[in-house]
Amino acid sequence: MKGLILSGGKGTRLRPITFTSAKQLVPVGNKPILFYGIEALVASGIKEIGIIVGDTHKDIKAAVGDGSKWNIKVTYIQQDAPRGLAHAVMIAEDFMDGNDFVMYLGDNMIMSGVQEFIEGFNKAKPDASILLAHVPNPSSFGVAELDGEKVVKLVEKPKEPKSDLALVGVYLFSNEIFKAVKSIEPSPRNELEITDAIQWLIENSYNVSFTIIKGWWKDTGKLNDMLEANRMVLDTIQTEIKGSISEDSEIHGRVRIADNVEVKNSIIRGPVVIGEGTKIINSYIGPYTSISEGCYINESEIEHSIILQNSRIDSIETRIEGSLLGKNVKVSKSKSKPRSNRFMVGDNSEIIIL
Ligand code: TTP
Repeated sequence: MKGLILSGGKGTRLRPITFTSAKQLVPVGNKPILFYGIEALVASGIKEIGIIVGDTHKDIKAAVGDGSKWNIKVTYIQQDAPRGLAHAVMIAEDFMDGNDFVMYLGDNMIMSGVQEFIEGFNKAKPDASILLAHVPNPSSFGVAELDGEKVVKLVEKPKEPKSDLALVGVYLFSNEIFKAVKSIEPSPRNELEITDAIQWLIENSYNVSFTIIKGWWKDTGKLNDMLEANRMVLDTIQTEIKGSISEDSEIHGRVRIADNVEVKNSIIRGPVVIGEGTKIINSYIGPYTSISEGCYINESEIEHSIILQNSRIDSIETRIEGSLLGKNVKVSKSKSKPRSNRFMVGDNSEIIIL
């Protein structure tokens, strides 16, 4: 079995971060989301992974490389435009070379991994298998209707859902899927939809099975889901302190502090991770915060947030909460009068002043 990870796409729901970076590389617990997907496939024994890339191909290639850090072989498959998940499957046919494959959406996180799902597929050998989860709000997802052990219908974001079983971003396919993706037409949003391709298999009497996932999973395509994934990951960390903590600082709970971090006269209340070379001075870092490498936090309070590389937060009196700051962002307070807010922010940024 081979792997196919989808790491192209538009990422409109995470603008402006996605204007300059790949959403799949946003770190959750200071590790790119994409790496959780790669590691889930590697843990289930997959040795060859194709990664679908789009405009952000350079960054993805720089971060993932040839796969040798996981002892696997990675092949990049360029998608000319985000033409849909089924289009991504279509352009991977040569790479699959007759093998069954697991397709994994590169912005999804599935804590329990995918090994059991793959083992079930290898035993039962259906033509395709989908992963499902019970959700409270099925109308926001692709929803599956079941009959015993079979999937009978998939409906994209139904107004009146017939079940609460949403499609999770992992699919298992035999090569029959290539017939399906070539037979369907683009949807009204002009994408080749994977739900349509699977529906095609069902309607043409192919066998589509399913597994219902137990643990948590997240599609991190939106800010709140990204923060929640960060929370879930930080809930699992163990304390490891490598940097230097001054005597007048306090550390509570589980924290992971990397090399060359300096914490001075500050309180850190875990779970928190802090990346290499970051300085925290006269500040409070509260639960569920991930601060990447090379940041500078002075006279400020941050909680339940993700701060990317080389950002500076200086003398902000109100606590920063539920936030995602990109790379090299500066947030500071000026001492000059009159008191006012001054911004230089890119398109589609969002600033909420409390
Ligand atoms: P989505 O999150 O469904 O789509 P998107 O990335 O375009 O985001 P948005 O809806 O906010 O505009 O995509 C799921 C995953 O699949 C994600 O990792 C991007 C990837 N993808 C591709 O690689 N090619 C594609 O054509 C599409 C649509 C998505």
